[in-house]
Amino acid sequence: LWQLLPRDKSQPPLVWHWIPFLGSAPAYGRDPVAFFRECRGKVRYGNVFSFILLGRRVTVTLGPQGNDFVLGGKHTQLAAEDVYSPLTTPIFGKDVVYDCPNEKLMEQKRFVKVSLTIEKFRAYVGMIEDEVRDYLNSDPAFRVWQLNDINEWGSFDVLKTFSEITILTASRTLQGREIRESLTKDYAQVYSDLDHGFTPLHWMVPGLPLPSYRRRDAAHAKMSSFYQSILRNRREHPEDNQEDDVMSSLMKQRYRDGTPIPDHEIAHILIALLMAGQHTSSSSLAWTMLHLADRPDIQEALYKEQIQHFGTPDGGLRDVTYEEIRELKVLDSVVRETLRLHPPIHSIMRKALTDIPVPATLGTPSEDKVFVVPKGDIVLASPLISQLDPAVWDNSETWEPARWYDEKGVAAQANRAYDEGQKVDFGFGLVSKGTISPYLPFGAGRHRCIGEQFAYLQISTVILALIRRMEFRLEGEFPQPDYSSMMVQPNPCKIHYRRRKFE
Ligand code: HEM
Repeated sequence: LWQLLPRDKSQPPLVWHWIPFLGSAPAYGRDPVAFFRECRGKVRYGNVFSFILLGRRVTVTLGPQGNDFVLGGKHTQLAAEDVYSPLTTPIFGKDVVYDCPNEKLMEQKRFVKVSLTIEKFRAYVGMIEDEVRDYLNSDPAFRVWQLNDINEWGSFDVLKTFSEITILTASRTLQGREIRESLTKDYAQVYSDLDHGFTPLHWMVPGLPLPSYRRRDAAHAKMSSFYQSILRNRREHPEDNQEDDVMSSLMKQRYRDGTPIPDHEIAHILIALLMAGQHTSSSSLAWTMLHLADRPDIQEALYKEQIQHFGTPDGGLRDVTYEEIRELKVLDSVVRETLRLHPPIHSIMRKALTDIPVPATLGTPSEDKVFVVPKGDIVLASPLISQLDPAVWDNSETWEPARWYDEKGVAAQANRAYDEGQKVDFGFGLVSKGTISPYLPFGAGRHRCIGEQFAYLQISTVILALIRRMEFRLEGEFPQPDYSSMMVQPNPCKIHYRRRKFE
């Protein structure tokens, strides 16, 4: 009933709900895009409104300026760790990422960045290619491929296949030899138990006495000690361990005060990289391949692009280098466009540590020009909403990679300017490379993703490897997004494949 009382006009409007603690959780959980659009448009709250999510007040700020408000906020006012830690600390472990002061996370991000050099990326291309080839040659779903029959069609389960290809390629490249070798053994079960702790339930209700929580904690302990035993072994037998991977790079680095990174932190940083990159990359791969299966014309454009760049006189295709992949416009656009429609993270959250005024530029239709987000609120930005905004993108709901490489395409223009660090006029205001942009699948500001370059390389190389070998098609309806897991992935579905005539 208190919702009927005159509200504090300095605060954003609160979305009406019937059940006090539950609030708008069902509508938000079922389809956050529909929920945000309904609140912004139909109910006319505009770009700033609050809703109740399991007893917590969440203030949403939409549009490029809303993205800027959350992602560009000062970390002394808007803290990511206060929101994410209940989910991530039991999985990643102590003293890293959101279980440490923000300044320490910034140092840890720097450690990882210096481990991901161009030289390493060059070596990763061949490793990813090898993993995809071995997977196709051994996984039962690719029996038709293995039989070498160019007329028969086979099919594979999209979620399973891309989840497996992602973990295999990420382990082989980022995680190091020992982890990749143990993937096929007991590590796979440990990973799966840990992964089952990565759900909205484990986030919103930490510490329930359920088996999945116990299995998650046991899996973390096992994984952490496994990584630490690898570290000890590498130190004790340096002559046998001349690896040049992220772990070896972390072993050599020091915090600003001169202390080396303790072993448990190295272990936990590596677990964090594995988990942060797994669902994001695998769902992006799944969506990309679904769109390609649905659009034979773009598959053809991708294949032709490969022939043009890597075709050999005998009609084959040669190996590619990292630099060459970066030159492939169609491939790049396919990935960009998929991340526009399907960024795996639909909600980016922070906790307000103080009362914070929301700038009037957020453009709310309400008479209230400036709201104050009260201390303690969760603040939420959803770049997905501006990535689908018809005011910015022509045919905004359509997957159309050409918008990124067509010379006249608005995205191509924005994209060029973005790459050059310039400002570009999207027709509704100035957009720049920073936190104020309608296209932010990797976030922005202090918490911007550190895996962007790697993810692009991983996704592009897998797509390239598949397209040069096979044709794909979709049977039945294009799958709807499933918002019930942590990352937006497609509902279960299959893709059909056939061997290309000329490999
Ligand atoms: C953060 C997206 C792949 C590691 C983020 C954020 C986004 C994002 C939106 C910001 C979250 C926030 O501000 O609250 C993506 C997408 C990916 C991807 C779309 C693939 C398509 C990866 C990969 C890695 C990775 C492969 C590791 C190698 C991280 C880490 C953070 C992060 C450690 C936390 C940074 C921080 O809070 O300061 N990612 N990511 N991501 N990402 Fe990614």
